[in-house]
This record gives sequence, structure tokens and C-alpha cells, in this order.
Amino acid sequence: MAKSVLITGASKGIGLATARRFARGMDDVDCIVMVARASEYFDSALAEVRALAGNRQVVSIEVDLADPDAVSAVFDRLETENIAVSTIVNNAGFTKPASINETRMADFERTMQINLYAPFRFVQEALLRSHPLEKVINIASTAGIGGRSGWMSYSTSKAAVINMSEVMREELAPYGIDVVCLSPGRCATDLRKTLAPDEDPSTIMQPEHVADVIAMMSSPAGKMLMSENLVVRL
Ligand SMILES: NC(=O)c1ccc[n+]([C@@H]2O[C@H](COP(=O)([O-])OP(=O)(O)OC[C@H]3O[C@@H](n4cnc5c(N)ncnc54)[C@H](OP(=O)(O)O)[C@@H]3O)[C@@H](O)[C@H]2O)c1
Repeated sequence: MAKSVLITGASKGIGLATARRFARGMDDVDCIVMVARASEYFDSALAEVRALAGNRQVVSIEVDLADPDAVSAVFDRLETENIAVSTIVNNAGFTKPASINETRMADFERTMQINLYAPFRFVQEALLRSHPLEKVINIASTAGIGGRSGWMSYSTSKAAVINMSEVMREELAPYGIDVVCLSPGRCATDLRKTLAPDEDPSTIMQPEHVADVIAMMSSPAGKMLMSENLVVRL
């Protein structure tokens, strides 16, 4: 049966690589929903994915996930477009590294809103609105497995994503919904530049590597693999 895949943070990095991957090579996907804030680079990402997607529908939804009402606005739009989502890739992420002393509560709250509450709301809203959900892929981080000095809010949010995924996996398994948690290590994106500005991006994992794993976990083969916090690293 044809499927619709919703990818948050699809304007660049791992999310865009994932949208490209679905546009190119997943036979059973007939609609790709790309979510990010409005920007010129989101416009060009969309044009690129549309060019790759052939007959598949590509829909963009521009929202700021720091806004607690954003997720319900996304689902209102899906209803307008008559799109029923079967896979959610909760990928959008934010970080503002700071020491304990320098961490501002507004930044901590923004990090939790984008990295944790929005992914929760995407799944909750899909269930409440009876979407034919089959697969949830939550992107956590190795920083959520072991806390890192100077990354208080980010590490904390990602640890919570790992635990939230366990709750979702257990609670949704009886309904045939698979919940996958992926924890990438260092990957060459803008977010990584914020965390490690001096690193040479050519020496670390590329977004396409993570996208390949996301695509595999979305395929029938993904059903045969343990989906509990898989670490993805070079
Ligand atoms: N790169 C790594 O080393 C690494 C390692 C482990 C885990 N991760 C995780 O991988 C995921 C993807 O990150 P990335 O590395 O690919 O970073 P990226 O290239 O900087 O992309 C981040 C994405 O999140 C979206 N986003 C951020 N704030 C948003 C907001 N307020 N509203 C809507 N969308 C927002 C961005 O869209 P806009 O265009 O709206 O900014 C962008 O599409 C994140 O969850 C990140 O924590 C990354």
C-alpha cells in the first residue's frame, strides 16, 4: 500500500538527505511531507526533492517547532491536503551549547520544545487524528547516551528522546506501530558545526549515511531489526 512519510527538519542536513533518499528510492512511498521553517534554503531543498521525486507528491509545511501550537497546525494542513501519514521521521533538532552557569532557561526550554515536546506531539496528534501510523523514527543522539560537558540542554533533551521512544515502542507495539530510535554520532551538518566549530567536516559521517539507515529502518527489512536506540556512527 502507498505510504506518506513526514520528515521534520527536512530543509538541510540529515532531514534533507532523508527526503532525497525517499524521493529517489522507496517504491511504496507516494507522498513526502517536508517540515521546516520558511527560508531560501528550504525553498531550494524542496525544488531539489521535487525534481528527484518523479510522480511522488512532495508537500512542504512551514512551521516553527518552537511554537507549542505548531504541530497541531501541521495536522490541520495535512487534513486540508487529504494526506494520511504512515511514517513520521522526528528529525528536527536545535542546540545552543552553554556551561551550567551560562545556560539560560529560555534556551533550555526552546531545546526541549523542539527536540522533545514536538516529536511527542507529532506522534500524539497522529494517533488522536487516526492517521494510519505504522512507523515512528525518532532521531536522538549519542550525546543522549552519555552527557557531554557544555551540552546540558542538548544532552538532556536527547536522553529524554531515547526514553520517550521506549515508552512509545512498548505502548504502540500492540497496535502494529514500530518505534525506532536512532542515535547518530558526529555527522557533518550545521548543527554539528555549532557543537564543534573547529572540526573538519570531511573527516566525519555525512548526512547521507544516516539517511540510508533511516530508509533501511523504514523498509520491510527494518521490521527484522531491533529498533531500540540504534547507534549510527562512522
Ligand atoms: N549532526 C550531528 O552530529 C548529529 C548527531 C546526533 C544527532 N543529530 C540530530 O540529527 C537531527 C538533524 O540535525 P542535523 O545534524 O541534520 O542538523 P541541521 O543540518 O542543522 O538541521 C536541523 C534541522 O532542524 C530544523 N529545525 C531547527 N529548529 C527548528 C524549528 N524551530 N522549527 C522547525 N524546524 C527546525 C532545521 O530547519 P530550519 O530550516 O527551520 O532551521 C533543520 O532542517 C537533529 O535532531 C540532531 O539533534 C545530529
